[in-house]
Amino acid sequence: MAFTVAIDGPAAAGKGTISRAVADKFGFAHLDTGLLYRATGRRTLDGTDPMEAARLLTPEDLQADGLRTPDVAQAASRVAAIPEVRAALVDFQRAFARRNGGAVLDGRDIGTVICPDAEVKLFVTASDEVRAKRRLDELLGKGHETDFETVLCDLQTRDARDSARATAPLKSAEDAVMLDTTRMSIEEAVAAACAEVVRKQ
Ligand code: C5P
Repeated sequence: MAFTVAIDGPAAAGKGTISRAVADKFGFAHLDTGLLYRATGRRTLDGTDPMEAARLLTPEDLQADGLRTPDVAQAASRVAAIPEVRAALVDFQRAFARRNGGAVLDGRDIGTVICPDAEVKLFVTASDEVRAKRRLDELLGKGHETDFETVLCDLQTRDARDSARATAPLKSAEDAVMLDTTRMSIEEAVAAACAEVVRKQ
């Protein structure tokens, strides 16, 4: 039976961690839809046309190294504003969402555009400063050289572009449950998300 959990929110709010934990707990499949845009954006860095890049995407591309860099994140956000790129990625995401056994998808437009009928919709946020600190720790942990101001500016630029675009902008679905993780531990945020799934099952 299909059961879809849609988790949206701005960059580095904790969507990925929460999504993976929910998927693990309930035995659902997980799709980080940001990877679709990151893999597409990455291909454009060598001059490939964005539409061509989206069309050529293979499941293996989503496993590629180097998708988590700041440059690729910005390229992802740029290609994500192109309606034709988004359209090319819709069918794959919807098929994933309705697979048997349940699915968790995290992104920006899952509850609004990809899966408006998802059984559970969460919109995960945190203050800009907390999100930047989390992303900074993650990048430093992977050996990237960067600093708080750079990371904060990167996130804010990306969120502004993602929120302002005409097609499938970053915004909460009207029926989404808001989860502000600013003052929550990972465990608390995961517990709150799991409670929503239990409530709807
Ligand atoms: O989630 P992540 O930060 O990896 O996403 C990278 C970029 O991909 C976002 O900044 C956004 O522009 C785009 N994206 C999107 N719609 C989604 C997921 C990601 O536009 N569902």
